[in-house]
Amino acid sequence: MNDPHGLALQLYAMPGNEARADALVARLGPRAGRAGLWLHRFPDGESLVRVQPPRTAVALVCTLRDPDALTLPLLMAAATLRELGAAQVGLVAPYLAYMRQDRAFEPGQAVSARIYAALLSRHFDWLLTVDPHLHRIDSLDRIYSLRSRVVHAAGPIARWVASEIAQPLLIGPDAESRQWVTEVAERLRAPMVVLDKQRRGDLDVSSRLPDLRAWAGRTPVLLDDIASSGRTLAAVLESLRGRGMAPAACVVTHGLFALDALDLLRAAGAARVACTDSVEPPPGVEGIALDAELAQALGDMMPGAKEPLP
Ligand code: R5P
Repeated sequence: MNDPHGLALQLYAMPGNEARADALVARLGPRAGRAGLWLHRFPDGESLVRVQPPRTAVALVCTLRDPDALTLPLLMAAATLRELGAAQVGLVAPYLAYMRQDRAFEPGQAVSARIYAALLSRHFDWLLTVDPHLHRIDSLDRIYSLRSRVVHAAGPIARWVASEIAQPLLIGPDAESRQWVTEVAERLRAPMVVLDKQRRGDLDVSSRLPDLRAWAGRTPVLLDDIASSGRTLAAVLESLRGRGMAPAACVVTHGLFALDALDLLRAAGAARVACTDSVEPPPGVEGIALDAELAQALGDMMPGAKEPLP
């Protein structure tokens, strides 16, 4: 399906993703355009998706916070666009859900990362996302059978820390955060420490802080890829109490901030909380924009580019 006006990609925003899709189109110029998508929820909880018929290759824009509610309408939209003739159907999901359950931690547990990957791979030709939680699974290609491209948030996060925090000490709350903390610390040439975390349940987390006297006078910047319940970061904040350090900042790539996470972080001593806009930052949280990086990656993937869409 070739558009006579040179349009190469139409972006369809799932509800809540309109501003993100607009920002991408504004950066990509006339080869990209927006198209309509409407979602109706029936009183009984079922959904009805309607899309404007596609004229060219398409991508759905849908960050995947709250994935259980979003995924079914998302897949219906993808299937409908394909039925209506879209040659390729891509997914721009700045936050990719279900990556943390990357193995069965107890017998009988679903390996959600693999199951979710198989589901999305059946409906999409390609995926663009931001720093997925790759830990025991070291690459999206191991579980996704579509073409994927990852945007890294380390650059924008490092720029934010450089402009906002003098003399930072970067603190990773657990072994899994080492990869992200290292990237940011290297860009800033700042010192870093990575802690041991014990998680006994969803809301039961503790961590042990090493001796930080060598870094007195620095501002602790807690850095992680995801803040969900906020318990991981709050445990570090608690253990910083009484250490005589400057009030800490918490910076995460994906700010999910479930339940009372933000109140908890403030109560535990977070002077500032920042996250990228992979998920819309809630009020009181400072945003770190990623639209330039996402648009650059999407531009590189569009038909006619060096790394065209499949
Ligand atoms: C896990 O390894 C992740 O990197 C985060 O540390 C974790 O998801 C944070 O969860 P919560 O905010 O619920 O402690």
